[in-house]
Amino acid sequence: MRARIFAVTLLLAVPAAAADWFPPKDMMTVGVYYYPEAWPESQWAGDMANIKKMGMEFVHMGEFAWAYMEPEEGRYRLDWLDRAVQLAADNGLKVILCTPSATPPVWLSRRHPDILMVDALGRRMDHGGRQQGDWSSPLYRDYVKRIDTQLAMKFGSDPRVWGWQIDNELSHYEKQYSYSPAATGSFRAWLRQKYRTIDRLNADWGTSFWSMRYSSFDEIDIPNQNNHPGLPNPHAQLDFARFFADEGAGFLRMQAATLRQFGGQQWITTNFMAMHEDIDPMRSAKDLDAFTWTHYPVHGEVLAEYGPLAFRLGSAAIQSFMHDFMRPINGISGLMELQPGQVNWGAVNPWPQPGAIHMWIMRAFGAGARLVCTYRYRQPLVGNEQYHKGLVETDGVTPSPGGLEYEQAARDMLKLREHYQAGAKEPAAYAKRHTAFVIDFDSRWDIDIHKQTTRWDTVNHWMKYYRALKSMMAPVDVVTMAHDLSAYPFVVAPAYQLASDETIAKWKAYAEAGGHLVLTSRTAEMDTRGHFPETLWAERIWSLIGAKLPKYDLLPGDIKGRVTSGGVGYQWGSWADILEPQPGTTVLATYADQFYAGKAAAVTHKVGKGSVTYIGVDTLTGDLEAVLLRRLFTEAGAAPASLKPDFLVDWRDGFWVATNFTSTPQTIPARPGAQVLVGTRTLPPGSAAVWIE
Ligand code: GAL
Repeated sequence: MRARIFAVTLLLAVPAAAADWFPPKDMMTVGVYYYPEAWPESQWAGDMANIKKMGMEFVHMGEFAWAYMEPEEGRYRLDWLDRAVQLAADNGLKVILCTPSATPPVWLSRRHPDILMVDALGRRMDHGGRQQGDWSSPLYRDYVKRIDTQLAMKFGSDPRVWGWQIDNELSHYEKQYSYSPAATGSFRAWLRQKYRTIDRLNADWGTSFWSMRYSSFDEIDIPNQNNHPGLPNPHAQLDFARFFADEGAGFLRMQAATLRQFGGQQWITTNFMAMHEDIDPMRSAKDLDAFTWTHYPVHGEVLAEYGPLAFRLGSAAIQSFMHDFMRPINGISGLMELQPGQVNWGAVNPWPQPGAIHMWIMRAFGAGARLVCTYRYRQPLVGNEQYHKGLVETDGVTPSPGGLEYEQAARDMLKLREHYQAGAKEPAAYAKRHTAFVIDFDSRWDIDIHKQTTRWDTVNHWMKYYRALKSMMAPVDVVTMAHDLSAYPFVVAPAYQLASDETIAKWKAYAEAGGHLVLTSRTAEMDTRGHFPETLWAERIWSLIGAKLPKYDLLPGDIKGRVTSGGVGYQWGSWADILEPQPGTTVLATYADQFYAGKAAAVTHKVGKGSVTYIGVDTLTGDLEAVLLRRLFTEAGAAPASLKPDFLVDWRDGFWVATNFTSTPQTIPARPGAQVLVGTRTLPPGSAAVWIE
């Protein structure tokens, strides 16, 4: 019953036009980045024909081409782009066009240097790279609006153009924030709007501490570690993180509205970065039609904890989590950039495992993506990304190893479409494991502002739970508390530090109605302002979790604490909530050393028709967390599967999809009579299978 309601909810979330843009029977479309401005026009036709021949269905163009679109102020040149679009159309390729706001032309930066961002040391950025524009500069926004208007006038109702990407990986990369006068002005305006009076700000920011008190909004600067011998005010930092994310979302909103002025029949997205902490995609939920992201799984990270081949395969958890994060925002998601081979920007840039690129594309398919676009078609001969692989080698025609894998994936998609069945019903056993994974950007920011222990890593904490869920073959939606959780049998809300009373009440109501809620270390210690309530530690959730939580402990260096559950020992190092269960509460795990040996580390109890489990210890590898989630799923009748962690299996549109990110062969959990359409029953590391039953 729950699962059926769930499916209906998801369908309702999809925008009406989505079925035209992304016909359900196509399931997932595969395409590639192409930069016509970087190649002689005489080569475009051959390139487009080869893109088509390799099985690509769309091309993505124009994202960094401002200097070619507007070579001088007010002189717009879109004829070349029009010819490139026509060549794409002649080859039956759909087109994604982009707004070029990540690369302002030199004339603009020289004439108006204040459109450039200022870094934390007060240095204004220069022309000659990218992402240097300052979104807070009204003048910059104005210039962006003008070029976007020209693009929209020319292509906004052009049937050859399928959709739009705004900007590129909205961010200032490692410079992180702009500290320009314009950004300072916007921050003050944001604060004024939020607090109305300076007294309210003083109260919320706790400025009685260290005599920080302000008498006017105009006295406030952006909190900047470089300007403070001591730490800047944590509440100011939290508000600045919120402001920055709002400012980014506002920049996207402005561009989306500009593009929609002259058409509105094409879909609009931006390409968010994977796990990026400063830009919050949920803030753009109403402004964009599709939620896409960029992914370069192999760039020199060793990932030793995931196996000896993980450095060639990437992190299964991060990749899968990102799909599960983007998809539920409005039901339309995809990978806008996916690595085609070696990249150039890691400290070390290894060759991905043969098969891995095909596997990543199949993972996107299994996770419900509507499109996968590879970055990029041709390996550049010059410029900042010379060592970056493309679908074709430096000769411009020979498919690279990754290019061959994309070709294979494109062929596989055609084959899978032949087996598409409209309205395929999600298998009941799988549906029973639907889990809402609730994240909160405020909590993530605030924990990072005052971590309390350098051993804590919020994303790593999330991944311990997420990885465990996927090893049970649970379909997961990563959502916020704004989402309707009522149809999910399970809700996991890790490290939800900044909880309002309303959030706590929602958790209670969810469990009372029959849901199984899992809360973890660092939950509800603070209110949404980042204040400790005037109670005992986390006391607002004591009755919800069925235990008092009077204290927590942290261990320095690499000292390891011990905890036991079911006679098995586990180790922790970063965070330990010490729990005191109330009558009727079951203790799931107990500390085995330190002066609080014998005290509870994890508890569970019934609440109404459901249950609440609190796991207060963050173990080194997440092994205890996995055991406790498995126990919960089993007791709730959700029959968890037992997949090796990082061997992912999901269901989509009637197809089972398995991707092996582990370093050993894995057997797909297919029934004996199943028809394996892609891959084999035994999957080597870095390979995928798709089957129907
Ligand atoms: C991405 C970026 C692309 C390209 C790519 C190279 O992060 O969005 O424009 O630079 O990296 O791997």
